[in-house]
Amino acid sequence: MTVRVAEAFAPGRINLIGEHTDYNDGLALAFATTAGVSVRARRLSGARVEARAHDLGEEYSFDAHETGGATGWRAYLHGAYAELRTLGYEPPPASIDISSQLPIGSGMASSAALTLALCMALVELSGDPALPSLALARLAQTVEQVWAGAQTGLLDQLASLHGADGQAVLIDFRELTLERMPLRLDGSTLVTLASGEVHTNSASGYNSRRAECTEAAHRMGVESLRDALIQDLHMLPDTLAARARHVISENGRVLAAARALRDGDLTLLGRLLDLTHASLRDDYEVSTPAVERTVDALKAAGAIGARLIGGGFGGSVIALMPQGTVAPAGATVISAGTGAHLLG
Ligand code: GLA
Repeated sequence: MTVRVAEAFAPGRINLIGEHTDYNDGLALAFATTAGVSVRARRLSGARVEARAHDLGEEYSFDAHETGGATGWRAYLHGAYAELRTLGYEPPPASIDISSQLPIGSGMASSAALTLALCMALVELSGDPALPSLALARLAQTVEQVWAGAQTGLLDQLASLHGADGQAVLIDFRELTLERMPLRLDGSTLVTLASGEVHTNSASGYNSRRAECTEAAHRMGVESLRDALIQDLHMLPDTLAARARHVISENGRVLAAARALRDGDLTLLGRLLDLTHASLRDDYEVSTPAVERTVDALKAAGAIGARLIGGGFGGSVIALMPQGTVAPAGATVISAGTGAHLLG
């Protein structure tokens, strides 16, 4: 049967803890946001794709087989069409409406959400069987790497796909296993506050951080930093040692945070967020003065833990606010929402 219209929704992701661990075979504890990106695709005859990004007020039209050098949200469209074809799908020419509630460059993985919703809608429109979730996550990662030039891991895609209401998901990127656990905050709230600096993975130091980790693992004689030991850091020059120290210690903090969440120990959870931020700032060096001011504002308002989220170099800060505190103006209370799915 020919599908004429397909609609999909993919949420953004908030990474509670476990930053820059995904591409090091590490661990993260993340959840899907309630906000996300919706894509409605309507089959067109002819060869052209007619797309509209409603929140940006922009339009784009291209030949479905064209692979030209587009940038921004347009690059993800080309990438979705091309990468689906390499998997044997025939995404048809379509009229595509994109509506996003996720601020671009906020560190909440708007590009992964866009790619996932787009690919799910196009696969549905092609009439072929849906992609298994890991294949879909990898496809969206390839789009990010090849078409947007950011050598990202699988955090954003897996968190968006496997989100569930009120649940966080502990992800092991080496085993590719996921464990859900209630995001139980006992009256405290999680908020995000934008630093005002837009973050892009491709234009930031993201790729160089990733290359440094590969180099550090190589020098330490391990396949990935997941297997590296703190006591072996002396084998590395200072900068590489600092990068590796962040990754090794961050994996430990993820496990501690998962335990704290299970035990309802929010004081410990907050402390771990603070430690992660210090590690991202001092060892991984992905903070900025605007991010530091944002962390300070949240701490001054009573946050028991605050840290930058996502790749860094701008974006947003997440904070744990105990009951009775008031977050600074502009902060948004966040909760865990459902994973990516087809609509209708
Ligand atoms: C970005 C990337 C993810 C992950 C984070 C840092 O969001 O897309 O793969 O590496 O940065 O944890």
